[in-house]
Amino acid sequence: MLAVRDLRSRYGRIEALHGVSLDVARGEMVVVIGANGAGKTTLLRAISGVQPITAGTVVFEGRRMDTCAPHRVVAHGVAQVPEGRQIFGPLSVADNLRLGAWSRRSDSRSNDKVLRWVYDAFPVLHDMRQRPAGSLSGGQQQMLAIGRALMSSPTLLLLDEPSMGLAPLIVRQIFDTLVQLRRDGLTILLVEQNANAALALADRAYVMETGHVTLEGTASAIAADPRVRDAYLGQGAAAQEH
Ligand SMILES: Nc1ncnc2c1ncn2[C@@H]1O[C@H](COP(=O)(O)OP(=O)(O)OP(=O)(O)O)[C@@H](O)[C@H]1O
Ligand SMILES: [Mg+2]
Repeated sequence: MLAVRDLRSRYGRIEALHGVSLDVARGEMVVVIGANGAGKTTLLRAISGVQPITAGTVVFEGRRMDTCAPHRVVAHGVAQVPEGRQIFGPLSVADNLRLGAWSRRSDSRSNDKVLRWVYDAFPVLHDMRQRPAGSLSGGQQQMLAIGRALMSSPTLLLLDEPSMGLAPLIVRQIFDTLVQLRRDGLTILLVEQNANAALALADRAYVMETGHVTLEGTASAIAADPRVRDAYLGQGAAAQEH
C-alpha cells in the first residue's frame, strides 16, 4: 500500500533522513520507534508531503506521492495526526473536526456521515462538540487531533507520538481506539517513543537511529531483540511506572 524508498531530507546543510525505506501493507499496523532526533517526525512529514525531500520516492497505492502537493496526498487517502496535536484552541471541537474535511471532494451529507463515525469512535468529542478545543484535557485533545485526521476519510493514518505527555490510562484508551479503527479497515503507521505499548499492538516495526532504519521485523521479534530491549524498552518500562 505504501512504499517508501531511499528517502532523503535535509534542514539546510543538515541531512535528517539518510535514505530511509519502509513498507506498509494494507490493513497493517506498523510502528516506527527511535530516540529523540532520530528523524521519525521528518519521515512522517515527508510521506505527507509537508517536508521537502532531496531524494527517494513515496508510492501510495501505485501513485507517486512525493511529487504531489500535501492536500493531494490527503485527497488520495493519507492523513497525518501531527506531533503535538496542533488543534485550534479557540475554535470549537466541531469546527476543528470540520477543518479536517476541507480537502475531501464531497458533499455535506457525506461529511455528516464521517462526522458521525468520528463521534462514534470518540463519544467524548460529541459531548464536548460546542466547547473551545483549548479547554479539553490533553487526552481529549489527542482524540480531537485523531478525529480531525479521520474527517478526510483516510485509508492510511499516520500518527506522530499520540501518547506523548499522556497518563498511562489515557494512552491505553487511545491505543484501544487505534486497534478498533484498524479493525474497521484503516491502515496505520505509528511513530512512538512509548515502544512497549506500541510494539504490543503493531504487526511490524522499524527502529530508526540518526536518520537511518537500523532494524526491522515483526513487532514481537523487535520487542525481543536485546539491542532494542537495552536501548528503548527498559526506558519505556521505567517511564510507565510513574
Ligand atoms: N525545523 C528544523 N530545523 C532544523 N533541524 C531540524 C528541524 N526539525 C528537526 N530537525 C533535526 O532533524 C533531526 C530529526 O528530527 P525529527 O524531529 O525528525 O526527529 P524525531 O525522531 O521525530 O524526534 P522526537 O522523538 O524528538 O520527536 C534532528 O537532528 C533534529 O534536530
Ligand atoms: Mg518527532
